[in-house]
Formats: sequence, structure tokens, C-alpha cells
Amino acid sequence: MKRIAVSSFKGGTAKTSTSLNIAAAFAKFHKKKVLLIDFDSQANLTTGLGYDPDAHDSLAPVLLGEKKVEEVILKTTIRNLDLIPADTWLERVEVTGDLAADRYSHEKLSQILKSLKYDTVIIDTPPSLCWLTESALIASDYSLVCATPEFYSVKGLERLGQFMENLSHRHPLDVLGVALSFWNPRGKSNEAFKKLIDQTFPGKLFNTKVRRDVRVSEASIHGKPIFETAPKSRAAEDYKSLTIELLKRM
Ligand SMILES: Nc1ncnc2c1ncn2[C@@H]1O[C@H](COP(=O)(O)OP(=O)(O)O)[C@@H](O)[C@H]1O
Ligand SMILES: [Mg+2]
Repeated sequence: MKRIAVSSFKGGTAKTSTSLNIAAAFAKFHKKKVLLIDFDSQANLTTGLGYDPDAHDSLAPVLLGEKKVEEVILKTTIRNLDLIPADTWLERVEVTGDLAADRYSHEKLSQILKSLKYDTVIIDTPPSLCWLTESALIASDYSLVCATPEFYSVKGLERLGQFMENLSHRHPLDVLGVALSFWNPRGKSNEAFKKLIDQTFPGKLFNTKVRRDVRVSEASIHGKPIFETAPKSRAAEDYKSLTIELLKRM
């Protein structure tokens, strides 16, 4: 079982869209049994798969030892793609109950996932370096870094790189790669962005960039991955080839 944390410490870098569509591509085109974990209390991934975050348990009661992980797993409309939803409770879970006093609370998610039988677990993280993000990274074999072709997004990767470097002394974590979304193939600064990314994560930028495509947000309104709502769109094409690149690196 390979575990991937999708992270950037920022909002609006397409973490949730990337998590959802890559997971769907793994399940749909590569015969993988996939578990998606929504680990952001904003619950966009949960909503993006057509679920009401207020109607289901998140990992919060599991982290607090009140439920078993199997009890909070939901099926999705895609065969072989399951979801653990998020809710607003998640945000405060680390200061609740026994977790608040637990020196090793960051290891909790890692322990919980051990009993599961999936080929791939993909964890969508919050837009900041909080307890949830750190726990997701510690529970993962790989991190998939998301960025947009904008100066502050690319510049912010330095901080992320340093954090992951420090973390790797405690826990082995491979940077699988950097995925750029909202790509404009004719962007004037494209080469400069590529160069900056290569300085922070040498050789890690994926060849495939996910182009800007309104079909990505339209799909989430329908609560489905893009392959269900716009299979011929350019973003669907990009997510497919990004997934192939990912698999080659795993
Ligand atoms: N390639 C893309 N083209 C156009 N819109 C996109 C693309 N990727 C994501 N979006 C939209 O941008 C917004 C932010 O993306 P999201 O995946 O939620 O980012 P994050 O999880 O990093 O905050 C969402 O409304 C999403 O539908
Ligand atoms: Mg998100």
C-alpha cells in the first residue's frame, strides 16, 4: 500500500482537484483500489464527490479512538474508489481529548492506516502547515507537491522543501514530484517558473502540466471526477497523463 500526501501549505494550488482526479484515474484506468482521505476541515473533496460533510463522520472520531476506521469509509460513484470525508471537527481534533496530551499524536494517522488494504491512499491536506498536514506527511511514503504558475506559489515551495527536508530526518518521505495546475502554455514567465521549481526540487517537476480548464470546477459542482463529466476535456487529458507519470515514479 502506497500512501501519498498532496500538499502545498497554501490554498488555491489545486490540491483538492489533483487529489480527486488522480485518485479517480488510478481507480478507473489503472485497476487500483484507492482510498481518498479528505483531511481538510473545509471538506471540499467531500463535497466534490457529492457528499454532505455534515452528514458523515470524518477521521476525527477515529483519531480520538471512538470509532474504527472501517466505520467512516464511504463508497463513491467510481468503482474501487472510496472516501473518508472531512468535517469541521477535524480542525480542532489535535487539541481534543487524549490527542492533546499525546507527544506522538502525529503518528496516529499512520497507525490507523496500517490496518487498511488498498493499493493507494491519497490524502488531501489543508492550506497550511498545521497538525493535520504534518500528520498526513508523516503517514505517507510520498508527497505530491502542488503549485500554480505564479511567483508567490513557486517561491513558497522553498519553505515546503525545507520543511520536508527536516521531516525526512524523522520519517522517510519521498517527494514524488511537483504538479503545476492552471497552466497557460503561452505564459510569458513559464521558463522562469520552471527554473525556480528546479532549484528547490531538482528534477521533480512533472512534464505534464494541468492546463487551466473551467471543466475542473464544473465537475466538482456535479460531485464527480472530471472523467465522468468531461472525459474529452483538456484537463481530463492532462490528469490522465500526469497519473501515468506518477505511476512511473512510484
Ligand atoms: N486546472 C484548473 N483549471 C481551472 N480551474 C481549476 C483547475 N484546477 C482547480 N481549479 C479550480 O480552482 C479552485 C481551487 O482549486 P482546489 O483544487 O480547491 O485548490 P486547493 O485544494 O489547493 O485549495 C477550485 O474552484 C477548482 O475547481
Ligand atoms: Mg483543498
